[in-house]
Amino acid sequence: MAKKEIDWSNIGFGYIKTDYRYVSNFKDGSWDEGTLTTDDMITLNECACVFQYAQTCFEGLKAYTTEDGHIVTFRPDLNAERMMNSAARLEMPQFPKERFIDAITKLVAANADFVPPYGSGATLYIRPYMFGTNPVIGVKPATEYQFRAFCTPVGPYFKGGAKPITIRVTDFDRAAPHGTGHVKAGLNYAMSLHAIVDAHKQGYDENMYLAATRTYVEETGGANFIFVTKDGTVVTPKSDSILPSITRRSILYVAEHYLGLKTEERPVPFTEVKDFAECGLCGTAAVISPVGKIVDHGNEICFPSGMEKMGPVIQKLYDTLTGIQMGHIEAPEGWIHVIK
Ligand code: PLP
Ligand code: COI
Repeated sequence: MAKKEIDWSNIGFGYIKTDYRYVSNFKDGSWDEGTLTTDDMITLNECACVFQYAQTCFEGLKAYTTEDGHIVTFRPDLNAERMMNSAARLEMPQFPKERFIDAITKLVAANADFVPPYGSGATLYIRPYMFGTNPVIGVKPATEYQFRAFCTPVGPYFKGGAKPITIRVTDFDRAAPHGTGHVKAGLNYAMSLHAIVDAHKQGYDENMYLAATRTYVEETGGANFIFVTKDGTVVTPKSDSILPSITRRSILYVAEHYLGLKTEERPVPFTEVKDFAECGLCGTAAVISPVGKIVDHGNEICFPSGMEKMGPVIQKLYDTLTGIQMGHIEAPEGWIHVIK
């Protein structure tokens, strides 16, 4: 089979239907063996728990073509674990880690012709998700569930690729203390839609959410923050209500062990943001997207790295992380899962 005819270098972050998706159903207390299917449609009862009470969680990871022509995924074990944590928080059955990795492996292998070629700038985004399927009208968890995973080739999450973006501080909250901000529940994204539509209308690329106290930096709707101090320390916000980004955890490791940088994971007061030299967003979709400017109710914070290119430290983190993902820098043990 040959690669699909797609203009790999010019695709955005959107849905392109691929040939196969993976499905497994949970009924009578256990998951079935699961299978690949070509059917991209889902038919459910009108009263399915996912429609009434948003009982759904998801994951996001990518497959890459390496320099030597292998297809790999990056730390899928951590996505599997995070999905188990999301499921537990939403009273859903956990899809076991080995099953998750097996499902992803089969899915990507079956859609190998959709994995963008090395050097194209595109990657294959994988979206595993789970939802309550049986009718539920009183507020309680479903008893039947479906786990699915599909994939789609994607380009950069933010238009303009590696160009610095502008974000604003929003007055909306993303997550409550002791709420669901630390898990990947669909509901966290539903409630962010109004804020992102409004941000786009006002000309901003994303929202910076602050903690409920309005004093500390949390994250954006789809990525964690990284900051770099003027003396080159990498700082990331620590909070119980942000998503534990796998990219962020990997960047901290890369900063320390590959680049010899100092790192700090700690609460970041918003008042400190103006003092940083560089700022970026990190996540599977965002990779590392540089932030050039943050606007807080008309007050502009312009980072010294400017609006034209990534700052030097963020550039080094980006080159090292993507180098590991694309196979031209040796990865730490266990980070790269080879599909074929
Ligand atoms: N924060 C939020 C709210 C996200 O949706 C994501 C994306 O998954 C991230 C952070 C980044 O997490 P990861 O690096 O694991 O993709
Ligand atoms: C991801 O990075 O995988 C996400 O889920 C973020 C989403 C905004 C696309």
